[in-house]
This record gives sequence, C-alpha cells and structure tokens, in this order.
Amino acid sequence: PGLNELAKKNFKAKRLSFTTNISDAIKKSNIIFICVGTPTKKNSYAADLSQIFTVAKIISKNIKSHKIIVNKSTVPVTTGDKVENIISKKISKKLFSVVSNPEFLREGEAIRDFIYPDRIVIGTSNKKINNILKSLYAPLISKGAKYVNTSRRGAELIKYSSNAFLATKISYINELANLCEKTGVDIKDVSFGMGLDQRIGDRFLRAGPAYGGSCFPKDTRAIVDTANNFKTNLSIVKSVIKSNDQRKLLLTKRVEKILKGKIKNKNITFLGVTFKPNTDDMRESSSLIMIPFLNKLGSKIRYYDPSGEKKEFKHLKNVKFCKNIKMACYDSDLVIIHTEWEEFKAIDFSKILNKKNAKIYDLRNLYSPNLIKNKGFKYYSIGRWVFYFISKMASISTAAPKGKEFVLTAALACLPEFPNKFEIISEAGLITLGWS
Ligand code: UDX
Repeated sequence: PGLNELAKKNFKAKRLSFTTNISDAIKKSNIIFICVGTPTKKNSYAADLSQIFTVAKIISKNIKSHKIIVNKSTVPVTTGDKVENIISKKISKKLFSVVSNPEFLREGEAIRDFIYPDRIVIGTSNKKINNILKSLYAPLISKGAKYVNTSRRGAELIKYSSNAFLATKISYINELANLCEKTGVDIKDVSFGMGLDQRIGDRFLRAGPAYGGSCFPKDTRAIVDTANNFKTNLSIVKSVIKSNDQRKLLLTKRVEKILKGKIKNKNITFLGVTFKPNTDDMRESSSLIMIPFLNKLGSKIRYYDPSGEKKEFKHLKNVKFCKNIKMACYDSDLVIIHTEWEEFKAIDFSKILNKKNAKIYDLRNLYSPNLIKNKGFKYYSIGRWVFYFISKMASISTAAPKGKEFVLTAALACLPEFPNKFEIISEAGLITLGWS
C-alpha cells in the first residue's frame, strides 16, 4: 500500500524515471541495484539464482565507466563473489565493485520499513564505496536507522540469519501455543511475559497458523541448503521447517475435531486466505493446504478475502469466493478466521451467523473467547483453553466423619480437541474440598 502514490509523486518531480533500455540505464547510473527474485528451485531447498546471474551478465556487457553494483536480492552467502566473477570475465575489476545491501522489508509494510528501518547493512570492504553508500542512505540514518558496515559475505548472511531467526521465533511460540491449549494457559500472556525481556523482545511472538509468504519458507530452506554445501548442519532451522510444515496439517486436523469428525457436507467459511493481511500474496499460505484438504473430505467451502478471488482455488469443486463477509458466513457451520485483515476484527457474528450451532475457529486470536461465547457461539482459538463445563460435583465418601460426606468440588473442563473427555483442572485454586 502507498507505492502507487509514492511512485507517481517522484515521477512527477522527475526524481524517478523508467526505461526498458538497459544499456542506457546502466550508462546513466553510478549505482546499480539488483532487485530480482530468488525463488526456491523446483524439488530442492536451494535458491534459484538464475535471474541474478542473468542480470550480472547483462551489466558486464554494458559497463563503460566505474559502477557500484549493489545486490538487494536475498542470496546465499558467497553469491556476491560469483557475481563479481561473472562480471570480471568481461570487465576489469577496477571498473566495478559488487556490494551486498540486503533489504528487510515486509510485504504490506514495505514503505514504512524502508523509511524507518532498524538498520541498514552494507557489505563491502572498500572504504570509499562504503562512504558513498553511507551518504546515499544519510536521510534514513539521520532519522535514527543504525548503519552497519561489514564484509560482503557477512551482509549476505545477516539477511538469511535474520529471516531464519524470525521464523524460529514464530515456530517456537506456535509450538508453545499447543502446550497452552493443553494446560489452560493463554498464549498471549506467555508472549507478553516473554517479550518484556529485552533479550527476547515482543515482536514476532504472535501465535497463529503456520508462517507463510515469499520469504520465511524460502529463506529457511535456502540457508539450510547453503549450510549443507559448506558441510554445516543447521539442525534448529531444519526443525523449524518441519514444525511449520506439520502445523498446517495439525490445524486442519483440529478443524476435523471441532466438527467432531463430521466434515462431509458441512459449510466451512474462510475469512482471509492470503498469508498475511494487506497483500494479495498466496505464496506458502496455510490456506493452500487447509482448503483443499477440507474440500477433499467433502465440506463446502466459501471464502472471502479483501484482496479478491484466488486462482489457486478456482479448480476446486465446492470452493467458492464470496464478495463479502456476510455472504461467506451465510449458513456456515464453521467460520475459520485465517488472516487478520482489519475488517475481520470487529464482526458482530450474531448478525451474520444464522445457524444456531455455528462455530468459530479464530486462528489469529482476534476475539475475546468470553465475548463470543456470551453471544452463544462455540469459539476456538490458538493457544487458549476454552471452558465449556465448570463446576461439576464429584463426591468421595472415604475418610469423612460419620454422618458427613467428603465432597470434592472441582472444575471440570473439556478441551476443544476432546469434546467428550472431561478433565479436572489440576490447579489448586480451582479445586475446593469441604465437608457437607
Ligand atoms: C518477512 C520479513 O519480516 C522481512 O524482514 C523480509 O524482508 C521478508 O520476509 P513478510 O514475509 O512480508 O516479511 O511478512 P512478515 O510480516 O514477516 O510475516 C511472515 C509470516 O509470519 C506471515 O505468515 C505472518 O502471519 C507470520 N507471523 C508473523 C506470525 O505468525 N507471527 C508473528 O508474530 C509475525
């Protein structure tokens, strides 16, 4: 969001121009940024660097005066060396410098992240080039962005390591959410309590569905692949990838449990299908696993996403796009809040859910369980225990004084996954003992 306006403004002010004439563009520029995609190769964990190498070859054919070639694309460590080798086959090393300058922009927040970055990382050992790039970024540095100059390889690795670490943080909190659901703890309290420790920090500790998008899945795989090439075992990142893949199925299985295994002909609504809000990006979204799986089990799925209909679901029979929340929720047996778009945060479900026993599964913890429960709907969320039955009496008559009965009053609750199994809450505060 905001990119159109920004591009138009700078185009009008003649600070931005576009061309398809590559040699002209290279000729007129002192600094050239490479900003191409590095997707995962088919049937592999490795990053496909073909676009980077193609650009390097094109640049090498068009250099006449000194150029600073800045790689912004996310690439495995040592890619800068390879780009340098490609260009130096045609051009003297005196005529160019290859620098790594990774970007840390999030989809949907790219402009904000660019203008107010936490840090700017420049990978070059050449002092003169470093000073030029520092002056290029001076307006951002003066606003408080930290400036880091490191080796080219160091900068490349900072990018991958950051994304793999953030993915680890999310998977960690997601696994803890599973534990919270079994122990009656609210994952939001855990995230909050952990996040107050400055060594941990509170961001990227929101439990939810599996992480998706174009970066975390791709970059975690690529860093594992790179490490393998250097005979290094990144076992933690490997576990993160596995945990995240399993989470997609785990949540789908949970949907089966919520519907007590009776999926066939059930109307299931998805609110949001993109991997995150404010983007139309479906890449690696957990909805890509959940929807086909539930559809295969015979459910009828309707979905609404503010970014519109998705080609990924068009071929699926009984999966339909609806133009608004109300249409998507009509006659629904289960509403799954998949993506935290702003417009899903304050829905009055009593006005749009017409089925009496309709259930809501909130994968983003947008609602308060009590508030929804008070409206008469069964509500399930992530990492939060839902109580259905409280205060059921259980009596035991042993060890009671004559004529008196020893009564154990315990709160009995049942877990969303096991609707027919009762468990006594074991926290001392919830169990009262007395004579009657
Ligand atoms: C990410 C990095 O954040 C960014 O620095 C990098 O340049 C590109 O990759 P992006 O993929 O756009 O950005 O989205 P991000 O906001 O990081 O979310 C990625 C995934 O993690 C989403 O599926 C999101 O829902 C999930 N997520 C994020 C959580 O589940 N919990 C969180 O606390 C944060």
